[in-house]
Amino acid sequence: MAGTGRLMHAVQYDGYGGGAAALKHVEVPVPTPKKGEVLLKFEAAALNPVDWKIQKAILRPFVPRKFPHIPGTDVAGEVVEVGQGVEKFKAGDKVVTVLNHASGGGLAEFVVASESLTVARPPEVAAAEAAGLPIAGLTAHQALTKSAGIKLDGTGEQANILITAASGGVGHYAVQLAKLGNTHVTATCGARNIELVKSLGADEVLDYKTPDGAALKSPSGKKYDAVIHCATGIPWSTFEPNLGRNGKVIDITPGPAAFWTFAVKKLTFSSKQLVPLLATPKRENLEYLVNLVKEGKLKTVIDSKHPLSKAEDAWAKSIDGHATGKIIVEN
Ligand SMILES: NC(=O)c1ccc[n+]([C@@H]2O[C@H](COP(=O)([O-])OP(=O)(O)OC[C@H]3O[C@@H](n4cnc5c(N)ncnc54)[C@H](OP(=O)(O)O)[C@@H]3O)[C@@H](O)[C@H]2O)c1
Repeated sequence: MAGTGRLMHAVQYDGYGGGAAALKHVEVPVPTPKKGEVLLKFEAAALNPVDWKIQKAILRPFVPRKFPHIPGTDVAGEVVEVGQGVEKFKAGDKVVTVLNHASGGGLAEFVVASESLTVARPPEVAAAEAAGLPIAGLTAHQALTKSAGIKLDGTGEQANILITAASGGVGHYAVQLAKLGNTHVTATCGARNIELVKSLGADEVLDYKTPDGAALKSPSGKKYDAVIHCATGIPWSTFEPNLGRNGKVIDITPGPAAFWTFAVKKLTFSSKQLVPLLATPKRENLEYLVNLVKEGKLKTVIDSKHPLSKAEDAWAKSIDGHATGKIIVEN
């Protein structure tokens, strides 16, 4: 298969900028799995805002590593070949994986992935549902467990959590995961998604376009121990009055203002803190999420599904910023 000169369909771009219109459908050689890698036949991929932000040069000059670049990191597929030393997988295994942003490679008929970040996918977990999990699910998991200290087995102290943009990719997983812990969850989203976010487990939901929603005010008067901040453009001055004594804002899209606040709060030994977060994918956490889906304790809300031949529609939808759950590209 790999290395035999066989070609595959892939979606790539040749340089920075250009949005969805710059995605090209090409035929390129099927990649070869190296030591510790597996070759997957693509079943589904999920997009994340960072995919198009990379195209917009947010991580220039380090990411992508080179052009042309095949974007996409969150992939579910079937193992068709394994590289040297691979022990956990064999041809025919269904898996989900997370690729690194610098190399990408997700939007293609065949995908090379590291064994160390690939997880078995049981039959109960559909490809599209699994594909949603890597970046969005792992970010929600890391923000809640590592940054906010929530124990997802429910054994921790009661905590009041605010989740902004709870209808989005990260937010909808964060609501469900937070409710596995001993938490009261306040969530923000647009009016059209209030019922959905309640159905995911949120205790109270605010429409972010109302005055109380914009002020992030808990309807029941709760002060937040932690905010999983999945929206953007909300200043510290809006969070501050809503935080409990040791309240933390975990900002998953930290810009210069957030890093400034982070530094000031640290240097002044403030009890209220801003925590910038960059997700570090871990295999065991992805395994944990897949297992929750299998057990029916976590679900992927799917905004829309697009065939690989129309990946540009999925890309445009992600840029638009109004996804409810995950945008999926599938074969
Ligand atoms: N640090 C990391 O490692 C990491 C990892 C993943 C994502 N991120 C970042 O986290 C952010 C969220 O990612 P995502 O995948 O969840 O995005 P997404 O799925 O594109 O989020 C879209 C959702 O956000 C809602 N929304 C937008 N502005 C809002 C606001 N002010 N208040 C409440 N809801 C709002 C939208 O609702 P409406 O349609 O009703 O407007 C929509 O449902 C992005 O900036 C992304 O780059 C960072």
